[in-house]
Amino acid sequence: MKSLDHLRETMRRDRVFDFMMPRIAFDPDLDTRHGPILYLEDVTVSFDGFKALNGLTLYIDDGELRCIIGANGAGKTTMMDVITGKTRPDSGSVYFGQRIDLLRRSETDIAQGGIGRKFQKPTVFESHSVYENLELAMASNKDVWPTLFARLSGAERDRIDEVLQTIGLGAESRRPAGLLSHGQKQWLEIGMLLMQNPRVLLVDEPVAGMTGQEAERTAELLTSLAGEHSVVVVEHDMEFVRSIARKVTVLHEGSVLAEGSMTEVQSDTRVIEVYLGE
Ligand SMILES: Nc1ncnc2c1ncn2[C@@H]1O[C@H](COP(=O)(O)OP(=O)(O)OP(=O)(O)O)[C@@H](O)[C@H]1O
Ligand SMILES: [Mg+2]
Repeated sequence: MKSLDHLRETMRRDRVFDFMMPRIAFDPDLDTRHGPILYLEDVTVSFDGFKALNGLTLYIDDGELRCIIGANGAGKTTMMDVITGKTRPDSGSVYFGQRIDLLRRSETDIAQGGIGRKFQKPTVFESHSVYENLELAMASNKDVWPTLFARLSGAERDRIDEVLQTIGLGAESRRPAGLLSHGQKQWLEIGMLLMQNPRVLLVDEPVAGMTGQEAERTAELLTSLAGEHSVVVVEHDMEFVRSIARKVTVLHEGSVLAEGSMTEVQSDTRVIEVYLGE
């Protein structure tokens, strides 16, 4: 088992290297005065000639909770890969606020600069406590890097406690993360993202494998995060989507098929034909 000190040391070394990376966190260029925090315009991604995204145009407003639905292969995950810099499109533009061109930023820069992504499989440090996991996540946030050299300040402990409350794991804080249920691990991972103060949270299939009760709590958690954060949720579970949905975007063959309230998209004949009617 790696000690916490060892992890701290490793992160401190990475940090020194990291100083050389360009930064967008709290960038004065992050301009959301016109409403949207994410702009995807006419984005096309091809894999061996197959267009996973095909002229995708999508805007996410600052503070909104957006659900993205669509059949398998519609391009939902690829869309997240493009926003996070993992996949570079063949054409189109992707902006964070009005001025930050995400196509010119590295994947690390985007992750540390305010766009957090939650993958389906939780990646928590199993042998460390819930509290230590949050502490380590905070340490990878460059704005608090001096904590690596010192003990946690009162403000940092307050922030960890606040996130523990938000994710509903206050009573589990001293437990090793490996002993948590699948749902609790997912919440911890969301908490770890929150420690980095992201403006945007991208969440791919958050309730897969959860019990009904866990899914309900996840719905409450994501709903509570909107406003302060912009939250983009991809999910196949329609009951879950219905429980959190405000605006829903339906992707089909790499572009937007329909957009609107859940009631609107559910009664759209094209949506019923290609997705909901399956
Ligand atoms: N790296 C890749 N190389 C080749 N094809 C890919 C790659 N990534 C995705 N694809 C293809 O692009 C299409 C869109 O995939 P994507 O994973 O974005 O769909 P999705 O909407 O997330 O589907 P699901 O609901 O099954 O997760 C699929 O046909 C997929 O096979
Ligand atoms: Mg996917």
